[in-house]
Amino acid sequence: MHHFHYRDNHMFCEDVPVSDIAENTGTPFYLYSHATLSHHFVTFQKAFEGVPHLICFSVKSNSNLAVLRLFCDLGSGLDIVSGGELFRGLQAGMPPDRIVYSGVGKREDEIEYALQSGILMFNIESFQELELINRCAARLNKKASIALRVNPDVDPGTHPYISTGLRQNKFGLDMKSAAEACRLAADFSHVEVVGISCHIGSQVTEVAPFVDALHRIKELIMTLEASGISISYLNIGGGLGITYDRESPPHPNEYGRAISDALGESSLTLILEPGRVIVGNAGILVTKVLYTKKGKSKDFVIVDAAMNDLVRPSFYEAYHAVEPVVRDKKETINADIVGPICESGDFLAKDRNIQYVEAGDLLVVMSAGAYGFTMSSNYNSRPRIPEIMVKEDKFHIVRARESHEDLIKGESIPPFL
Ligand code: LLP
Repeated sequence: MHHFHYRDNHMFCEDVPVSDIAENTGTPFYLYSHATLSHHFVTFQKAFEGVPHLICFSVKSNSNLAVLRLFCDLGSGLDIVSGGELFRGLQAGMPPDRIVYSGVGKREDEIEYALQSGILMFNIESFQELELINRCAARLNKKASIALRVNPDVDPGTHPYISTGLRQNKFGLDMKSAAEACRLAADFSHVEVVGISCHIGSQVTEVAPFVDALHRIKELIMTLEASGISISYLNIGGGLGITYDRESPPHPNEYGRAISDALGESSLTLILEPGRVIVGNAGILVTKVLYTKKGKSKDFVIVDAAMNDLVRPSFYEAYHAVEPVVRDKKETINADIVGPICESGDFLAKDRNIQYVEAGDLLVVMSAGAYGFTMSSNYNSRPRIPEIMVKEDKFHIVRARESHEDLIKGESIPPFL
């Protein structure tokens, strides 16, 4: 469900015509619907109503301050993976005791920043990290709450680049090592083990792998409790998929029911780290056709957005639907929709049947709210594009378009040149 729809063949975001925004701010731009973001968050929250839980929205999927503030106001916490994401969260007004910190490579300064800020817990991914956190906490005279991140070795059935809970992935500790780390941590004076966490992968379109992982973690928690270590939080991570094309992922209610059932009678508080399922279909990328050209073997539609703006098609061969902003022509064409970047891998869609377009027409790349702007770059010295949020009949630029000056910010030419 989302609030991008046609009225009289013109695409609207809630009550604002997309072409009005294009006229006002130029193209390309990301566009988020406030109603869709809220609806997705609340739906997810309701799916866990019967279970004590904390939803920690995964900042990496969409880290705009306005988006984070919106979720904060709805009761969300955050899943962060860097000092930068912590900074964003705090700037957005997120209470630190709703923030959990994952990631295999936390730096010492980042750990100290998180300890000083008073985050809820660290999801620890190695023995060395455990020792470092204990040392940092001792230096700051604090006690760090931690969860051990386990690698449950379940196949999430997703793209290899975005599966994280398999034995060969770099994430977490295997079950045996996690138990060992918990016992070790019990002897450390500046950490307290409060949870077990995991994250099996992203864009997962079935509930079974989550349920599998949860059962394995429950077993671990029981073993730990038998040896006197009591656990309060079970963090099942994020990863629930969305519909980009023809996928039919479980509705959050189905996911919620399956997880709650698998958890059974328990005093544990669940932590969930959804990203894509909340923001993915709440955002689009709006771009303008610059040129069309007929190649010898195929046709190209050259648009002003590129792989630096949305890298998912190039990086994962991900499918994003492409729709016209004005649906007015009967004729269709088959073409590659490509950007201006000097790489053959720079495409937004391949071999796509779309409505006939000409230079100046606007196109929309759907389902671009997750891992869209956050993965964008300045490649080819292209300024990063604005992010805009619509609420009912109003829109607000929640991140301005970068300027050429922004491109060289921080650069300097040394005196020896
Ligand atoms: N928690 C942890 C520890 C994670 O590593 C991730 C995502 C999430 C939560 C949120 O997962 P989600 O609910 O969004 O699936 N750039 C890729 C996706 C990478 C996901 C990385 N980890 C893409 O564009 O598909």
